[in-house]
Amino acid sequence: MLCSDAGLLSNIVASQDAAHAPYGGVVPEIAARAHMSKIDAIIDRAVQDSGLTYSDLTGIAATSGPGLIGGVITGLMAAKGLALSLNKPLIAINHLEGHAVSPRLTEDCAFPYLLLLVSGGHSQLLSVNGLGDYTRLGSTIDDAAGEAFDKTAKVMGLGFPGGPNVERWAAKGDDHAVKLPRPLLDRDSCDFSFAGLKTAVARAYVASDGSDTAKANLAASFQRAIADCLNDRVARAMTQFAEGRDGPYRFVVAGGVAANATLRDGLKSVAAERGFDAIFPPLRFCGDNAAMIAQAGLERLQAGHVDPLNAPARPRWPLDAEAAKQAPASGAGRKGPKS
Ligand code: KG4
Ligand code: ZN
Repeated sequence: MLCSDAGLLSNIVASQDAAHAPYGGVVPEIAARAHMSKIDAIIDRAVQDSGLTYSDLTGIAATSGPGLIGGVITGLMAAKGLALSLNKPLIAINHLEGHAVSPRLTEDCAFPYLLLLVSGGHSQLLSVNGLGDYTRLGSTIDDAAGEAFDKTAKVMGLGFPGGPNVERWAAKGDDHAVKLPRPLLDRDSCDFSFAGLKTAVARAYVASDGSDTAKANLAASFQRAIADCLNDRVARAMTQFAEGRDGPYRFVVAGGVAANATLRDGLKSVAAERGFDAIFPPLRFCGDNAAMIAQAGLERLQAGHVDPLNAPARPRWPLDAEAAKQAPASGAGRKGPKS
């Protein structure tokens, strides 16, 4: 719950990590059922925590994509039910826009800014020109960075979600111990590729003695490879972003992977070298959270955007206009607009 005057009134995150942990990754059916069983109680608690009543609400914002469709439908339908029964406007939010505006929850982070969005489902570099106005400078051509962390952890049995566990093991290892590829490095684009790195990690682990030292060294070498790829792509994107624009330049890192301290340090140095102010939203707003969706909803409502009650739930929904033109708003292939 977000109020334009009083700020954030409640922000409940109901983690499903424990339910997915035995499988080493997110299981769509479990995710959908967990959304269904929790949504009503969470909405009620959010209203109670805020000290308001349902009738005090000005609008109802909910994610309408992209993402696993079972969870998206559950949240969107709950929001539509509330909007209809309370006669309040519905604002259907692109989940990626939530991440894009997340720094604005706590900072005076004016448009435009360069955004690195790195999560379990997405790895993109975007120029955030204004609300609803995005230019994609690069994206992954296969796996997302968070997915690579999760799969690396799964191969070595480090637990789910992979990111924090790999980071912990990496702290004990030597990041030069294992030679791993840096896909697309030095290519003249801002795109990422992490699938080859993931396969190389699996091969290296099978070839190792499986000891704790081998795990720590592989985790550290993997994390170094990811850092090198992100730093190189970000440096390139900064050059593109600054072209024909006057400073000051801002650089925001959002999404669950932004929680990684080693990656943050590297990105801070790249930003400092190129005269960009590096902005990292607080950790609780880096991973998926309700506050960032409320922030996007508030900004859209203030700009006069509302959505009809038949707004669709979209499994795929690119944020930038160019990618949206190239593929339909839902159901595109693996390399379609979801990435
Ligand atoms: O943004 P998020 O909460 O959900 C998605 O939209 O995907 O991101 C979750 C991802 C997972 O892949 C998780 O392993 C990764 O963020 N992650 C991290 C760290 N904490 C979470 N990756 C690297 N280092 C971390 N400390
Ligand atoms: Zn997310």
